[in-house]
Amino acid sequence: MDCPKVAQPGPYVIEVTPRRYAWCACGLSDRDPYCDGSHRDCGMKPIIVTIEEPQKVAWCGCKQTQTPPFCDGSHKSL
Ligand code: FES
Repeated sequence: MDCPKVAQPGPYVIEVTPRRYAWCACGLSDRDPYCDGSHRDCGMKPIIVTIEEPQKVAWCGCKQTQTPPFCDGSHKSL
């Protein structure tokens, strides 16, 4: 299975609560932007981040960001 796969051509902007998150790096998750274990099909691993306070996060959905797990605008060049 080829990856990373573009899960969606733009960010997931989500209000999040403080805790650890596992961002899907491969684009295969059915729970994108979060990992569901589907990376086993292509050998990639999720990026684990700890969010310290409530905030709005722009999770990369295109999987092309240079600042994972966050959107850096790379989706604009897809
Ligand atoms: S959604 Fe991937 S860089 Fe914006």
